[in-house]
Amino acid sequence: PIDLRVEDLLSRMTLAEKIGQMTQAERGAITPQEVRRYFIGSVLSGGGSAPSPNTAENWAQMYDGFQKAAMSTRLGIPILYGTDAVHGHNNLWGATIFPHNIGLGATRDPELLERIGRITALETKATGANWTFSPCVAVARDVRWGRTYESFGETPELQRLLVGSYIKGLQGPNAEMGGEYLVATAKHFLGDGGATWGTGGAGYKIDRGNVAVSEEELRAIHLPGYLEAIKAGVGTIMVAFNSYQGMKMHEHKYLITDVLKNELGFDGFVITDWEGIREIPAPNYYQKVVRAVNAGIDMFMEPNGWRDFITNLEKAVRNGDVSEERIDDAVRRILRVKFKAGLFDAPYANRDLLAQKLIGCEAHRAVAREAVRKSLVLLKNENNLLPLAKESRIYIAGSNADDLGNQCGGWTITWQGKSGPITIGTTIREGIEAALKEPGRLVSNLDEADVAVVVVGEKPYAEGVGDNGKLTLGAPDLMVLNQVKAAGVPVVVIIVSGRPLMITHLLKDWDALVAAWLPGTEGQGVADVLFGDYNFTGKLPVTWPKDLDRYPLNYGDADYDPLFSYGYGLAMDLKK
Ligand code: IFM
Repeated sequence: PIDLRVEDLLSRMTLAEKIGQMTQAERGAITPQEVRRYFIGSVLSGGGSAPSPNTAENWAQMYDGFQKAAMSTRLGIPILYGTDAVHGHNNLWGATIFPHNIGLGATRDPELLERIGRITALETKATGANWTFSPCVAVARDVRWGRTYESFGETPELQRLLVGSYIKGLQGPNAEMGGEYLVATAKHFLGDGGATWGTGGAGYKIDRGNVAVSEEELRAIHLPGYLEAIKAGVGTIMVAFNSYQGMKMHEHKYLITDVLKNELGFDGFVITDWEGIREIPAPNYYQKVVRAVNAGIDMFMEPNGWRDFITNLEKAVRNGDVSEERIDDAVRRILRVKFKAGLFDAPYANRDLLAQKLIGCEAHRAVAREAVRKSLVLLKNENNLLPLAKESRIYIAGSNADDLGNQCGGWTITWQGKSGPITIGTTIREGIEAALKEPGRLVSNLDEADVAVVVVGEKPYAEGVGDNGKLTLGAPDLMVLNQVKAAGVPVVVIIVSGRPLMITHLLKDWDALVAAWLPGTEGQGVADVLFGDYNFTGKLPVTWPKDLDRYPLNYGDADYDPLFSYGYGLAMDLKK
């Protein structure tokens, strides 16, 4: 019956209504009146874009404002409202923030990921938003890439294991997409994690770069995540900024139409990345629009330039440069997802869900804490220094010991992320302090310490900005490590980062080493394991290189000689 409803609706639509459905605008760059006037198909919150004050109630009101406008159009077609809920509903203040995907890759626990997806859906849906641009199924082949942390890891094995379950959590076990579930997006199609260093787009090193691998390798490494996503019934797929063999993915008809839609049978819709079509090397915007639509893209994230898009696509259809069949194919796919998601029957924010006060609730945070525990990877444990005794006098220091923002990373409240107390949660330091037998055990003087815990790592960053060819520790962290070394106190180093950092020359000075990735709001998860209430179970989702001289280096390469191999991870002796 959905197909019949789609065909019936499609047959009654004008060209303007159809093109409106193919258009997505940013919430800050469009009014509800314009949504109504142009028959807009979707509105998004870009990274960090939220109503002010940033409360769930305000989100729901904002959403309903746009939705009312859409429902008051001639044919009453509801909008999809999209947001990057990539580790929880991370644009919303007070939401439960889970570890970023790289940490989830380390858990290798599909059942856990399904629960995380489910909670993300509940917290997001309670605010009205019905579509998340996640999961990112990138296979990160080069840890210098700033988006490495958005990937489950460097092998298709991890995508096969985790993508389907995560999507089931987000969309429902049978791709319901409606009710308490969301429409999900597998992104970024195709090869986003496989670009070559030095080929990055506008000012970047690798992000938006060129993927040069053979088609055989492209299919073997980068496609399996999409096969899983399609199997799980993913509603939408986002096109990547990168090029494949010199051609921008946003105009890659062979990969989008021939492979994704025809060969793999993807029946949801394909969306661009943010202004992605503007990077197509065509002489003018009109040509870019024509190439992208004809390549098979169905919806266009033109956050600010949406009016231009509409004008140009209308012109292209009138000129015969884009066929009406292509427009109908795009709109049919968009309507199908909207019907599947139950939006025609229940278009407005679910106030009952909102009233349940699920956002950042204890039960949800407990799952995030469990995810933190399971994401930690123990890389060194000389003389069984870990687990620590809860009676220990601990000196704790380092740039990421007590910083919620650094712990959450990019895509948290703001687009690029921010240091500081940005949302609810517990820092690693607070978690350790709470676990000690006697509160206030933490010592501020190294001479009094039985052990030092030094939490080092990166500051937040997101797409583009995070590309880094050095991956060294910052001067303040190196200074603390030197002080601890000079004092001769046994040291546990915890690295909070989106990827491996270059530590080969420092490792001999450290007694224990833990990779904590970007754990999110629940810092107690780290203490749960440090003190032995739980053991370490995480395994490296990416290769940890010795240096970046002969790089990239991936599992299975000839001359594979990393500092720590993909899949490495120790457990503690809990009998001690
Ligand atoms: O979904 C994201 C994408 O991953 C990167 N560019 C912006 C999009 C929307 O915020």
